[in-house]
Amino acid sequence: MTLVRKNILSVAPYQAGKPIEETKRQLGLKEVIKLASNENPLGPSPKAREAIKKNLTQINRYPDSQSFYLKKKLSRAMNLQGSNIVLGNGSDELVDIIIKTFVEDDENIITADTTFLEYKIISQVNGRQIITVPLGYFKYDLAAIKKKINEKTKLIFISNPNNPTGTYLTRLELEDFMNDLPANVILVLDEAYDTFIDVDDFPNSLKYIDSENVIILKTFSKAYGLAGLRVGYAIVRPEFGAYMERVRQPFNVNLLAQAAAVAALDDRKFLRKTRRVILEGKNYLYDSLNSLGIAYVPSVTNFILIDVARDSVSIFKEMLKYGVIVRDMKQYGLKNFIRVTIGTKKENERFIKVLKKIL
Ligand SMILES: Cc1ncc(COP(=O)(O)O)c(C=O)c1O
Repeated sequence: MTLVRKNILSVAPYQAGKPIEETKRQLGLKEVIKLASNENPLGPSPKAREAIKKNLTQINRYPDSQSFYLKKKLSRAMNLQGSNIVLGNGSDELVDIIIKTFVEDDENIITADTTFLEYKIISQVNGRQIITVPLGYFKYDLAAIKKKINEKTKLIFISNPNNPTGTYLTRLELEDFMNDLPANVILVLDEAYDTFIDVDDFPNSLKYIDSENVIILKTFSKAYGLAGLRVGYAIVRPEFGAYMERVRQPFNVNLLAQAAAVAALDDRKFLRKTRRVILEGKNYLYDSLNSLGIAYVPSVTNFILIDVARDSVSIFKEMLKYGVIVRDMKQYGLKNFIRVTIGTKKENERFIKVLKKIL
């Protein structure tokens, strides 16, 4: 007999990217690079570091439960109101808050089968039915998703761009999809990687907030380099936000995270440099993979899905021995693929050298 809730028994635990320290400890390595969790390879922004130092003496106090300054800064930058923003302990937490706020016991949630795993895991933990729809050519198949919508569908999660494939939905594709969505369905557009976009036809989703049932998710974990602090936000219409605020824990975004996020938003120079390093790194990796004859999925993000044409778990393990942490895609159902985060020039070169040796 188990005392655990039934739906927890079938949840496959989230497997995070392997940490650098753990790899050093287990393999007795001195130099390890991590290209496994789509983090910023340049570290946190210098302005964010400064802000953290300045606020260290305040951490005997609870954080501002309303995150006044962060909401103000974010809403101004996007020409919105503070009531359009709900903050989360990473956008992970906002996925949970959204499900708890909107989805009844007997309603369902739709997403792709090969996408950010937390949509499925958090749905299951909350005891909600999750319907997953296969991708078409590594991209969300919107026509197939539409066919799965029924009267019990409440939420659709779309990672745009998609993790782990790096593909995106264009403005026209998305608007066509939204055109005849039933009025009781909420579309969540998770734009964790929007800062890296280098195409012109990516949707400007902010303009859907008032007219459609749309929630946008963003994060400070990727381009802003603050993954370890955990800050993400949802952009919502005020009515949705007010109810999500009832579900949110009052102190979910800690004091240092709030201060660092405010400062990071001011650090345009760091953001520009991040974009440049990622775009240059992507071109280098494309060129190297092309010359090695290794197939990959072209990406608009800071990671690339690579077809290693062999069991990716064994490739992951072999690369680990050389101090390079990548992500095998077994848990995502792509057993011959690895996902590599674009790193610094030096890290990318080391990755290619090791990949070449192994393959
Ligand atoms: C598509 C997507 N959404 C959300 C997240 C989580 O971001 P956060 O660190 O803000 O929880 C990730 C992290 O990998 C992601 O890939």
